[in-house]
Amino acid sequence: MKSEKILILPGDGVGPEIMKEAIKIIDTLNSSKMCNIEYESADIGGVAIDNHNTPLPDDTLQKAKASSSILLGAVGTKKHESNLNEMKPETGLLKIRKNLDLFINIRPVFLFDALLESSSLKKEYVTGLDIIIIRELVSDIYFGEPRGFNDDNTSAFNTMRYTKKEIERIATFAFELSQKRSSNLTSVDKANVLETSQLWRKVVSDIGEKYKSVKLSHMYVDNAAMQLVRSPKQFDVLLTGNIFGDILSDEASMLTGSIGMLPSASLSSKYGMYEPIHGSAPDIAGDNTVNPIAMILSVAMMFEYTFQNKNISSIIRNSINDVLNEGAFTKDLSPNDYISTSDMGNKIVNQIKKNV
Ligand code: IPM
Ligand code: MN
Repeated sequence: MKSEKILILPGDGVGPEIMKEAIKIIDTLNSSKMCNIEYESADIGGVAIDNHNTPLPDDTLQKAKASSSILLGAVGTKKHESNLNEMKPETGLLKIRKNLDLFINIRPVFLFDALLESSSLKKEYVTGLDIIIIRELVSDIYFGEPRGFNDDNTSAFNTMRYTKKEIERIATFAFELSQKRSSNLTSVDKANVLETSQLWRKVVSDIGEKYKSVKLSHMYVDNAAMQLVRSPKQFDVLLTGNIFGDILSDEASMLTGSIGMLPSASLSSKYGMYEPIHGSAPDIAGDNTVNPIAMILSVAMMFEYTFQNKNISSIIRNSINDVLNEGAFTKDLSPNDYISTSDMGNKIVNQIKKNV
């Protein structure tokens, strides 16, 4: 079996705890000869600032470029919270996304049946929910120049910027994906106010000319935020820019019961990085209570997208489903009757052993 080398970036806060569970899953699949994955670790975020005085050490970036895929836990610490941008943990994450040109961010929002009661919405609104948010990840106001503070720090500015090329490539990905699903694509912008959104809308519509079978609609972001909690099942693929995608994906996660359930894939033509959409949750770090499922589902996405192995990704997903169906929940899902992070990982491991 072909051996694959992946890079593990545990990061900060709950990152190392969820990564430990992800590694158990990979070890299990390795020993059952389902795959042959070698891994090494490196620092990113706050831990990298502490150990190397930079949130993205060169060594980490080089290792990332030499790996077939990257698993990332989370970045962000209280300690470095008020640092200047260059020395913020989050900058490490933004830089690795930018350096690897990971412009496609896939955030699937789906509900396991066992979590129907955990959703913030009534059952009938979320039963069978299955949305994919496609978020552009390496441009927009996150990266636009100029940015900064004026000399006496009494004003600050950022630049929202998109180029036609940047919009074309993410839109093309979204149309291709939409075609493989129900061909219902919603592009989200703020074209009633922002020029970047006016360009976005035009370029997305132009790309749409090549995908006549896909039903494209445009929606303003404020309306989309409302529609997501009014009737989320109207959506199949949601396509949006970096900042709107950041906000809408956190909102959408609550429909699935917990932000601890949502994985993501960040892709370029060459690289893939997989991480939960939740943050480093410093308030619960070290408690062995964080939900490891978003991280483990990110491993499933790695098998699907980087290794093109849908069989393994289904085994992982089905095993999680089985464990949830047994009524085993972490604290975020069931605050009064819960199992620990490591117990959840162990249960999923045992279930995978039964399901392979
Ligand atoms: C996410 C996170 C990051 C983002 C932060 C940690 C920089 O919130 O992946 O959604 O804003 O993209
Ligand atoms: Mn976010």
